[in-house]
Amino acid sequence: MSLKIKSCCFRSLRKLLPLALALALLPACRGEEAQDDSLRIGVALYSQDDTFISTVAQNLERLAQEEESRIGQKITLLVSDSRSNQTTQMDQVDRFLNRGCDVLCVNLVDRTAAAVIVDKAEAEGVPVIFFNRQPVSEDIQRWDQVYYVGASAPESGTLQGQLVLEAWMDNREQWDRSGDGVLQYVMLEGEPGHQDSLLRTEYSIKALTDAGTEVERLARDTANWNRAQAAARVGQWLEEFGEQIEVILSNNDDMALGAIDALGETGRPMEDWPLIVGVDATAPALEAVEKGQLYGTVFNDSRGQAQAMIDLALALYEGEDPARAVDLEESHYVWLPYRKVTRESLGELRTD
Ligand code: GAL
Repeated sequence: MSLKIKSCCFRSLRKLLPLALALALLPACRGEEAQDDSLRIGVALYSQDDTFISTVAQNLERLAQEEESRIGQKITLLVSDSRSNQTTQMDQVDRFLNRGCDVLCVNLVDRTAAAVIVDKAEAEGVPVIFFNRQPVSEDIQRWDQVYYVGASAPESGTLQGQLVLEAWMDNREQWDRSGDGVLQYVMLEGEPGHQDSLLRTEYSIKALTDAGTEVERLARDTANWNRAQAAARVGQWLEEFGEQIEVILSNNDDMALGAIDALGETGRPMEDWPLIVGVDATAPALEAVEKGQLYGTVFNDSRGQAQAMIDLALALYEGEDPARAVDLEESHYVWLPYRKVTRESLGELRTD
């Protein structure tokens, strides 16, 4: 495909309506508009209501636009929102393929659906970049044009556990309210079965116990990555356990913000709140860190993930070796590092 300088034609679909309508509004892909030399990337999101995922989508749009001006390759993003429905996402993937997209970026609803998507894409010769929800390695190995862009779930758990450990060691009198030397906690978990839920839950506690901290779990429950659900859970736990809760570990920031909402509702002064930690470093979470409501979070690099996807997509489209465009591990994986964030380190964080 030739490279020509053309103007950008992005259509931001965020906040636009149901997918059927959204896709109907989108520009046609290769099949319907064969002469167009645009690189067309079909981006299938599991849910655009998810704060972190919508940040990745915004970054994809912005970076594609920047890349387009920089190298003069027209890039068109087609974005779909499956609203947490795998059947809907399958239809969206079919639609992207029918429209001749050059590359697919897929944020699976259900990671076990990866094999079917790989087979469909391979039949059309369209590379697939999965992101955020990691398929099992057998599905990634199914075809050499399948990639995964993401961050290591155990790493995020470990860093979150370290945040808690540091606070616990530095200021035991403040956080060990009962004075029994045992860290009493509750755990807000993301979607059941999601790697980030399972592994953040496991590794955050492992970081504490490996360092010799005695812990006691008072309660755990899923709040599906969701702020309102987390506020409801924590509201109940505060009634049940009151001041016994010393630490609230949350698998992501939205749920940590829900915990803050619930604590705010009680009218309890902030200096008497438990220590709260999240993951993602979303904009509202960083504000909460600044205000001292959230002790810390773990930066999940949405921009880095979006950049890796754009770089990979361009390399694949232009027939270049993807390993020259991104840091590729085991020929299929691009891993972005996580970082701890507290009030002290806020200034070092680049969230653009
Ligand atoms: C995680 C992120 C969560 C949520 C989830 C969706 O990596 O921390 O906030 O976005 O992905 O799969």
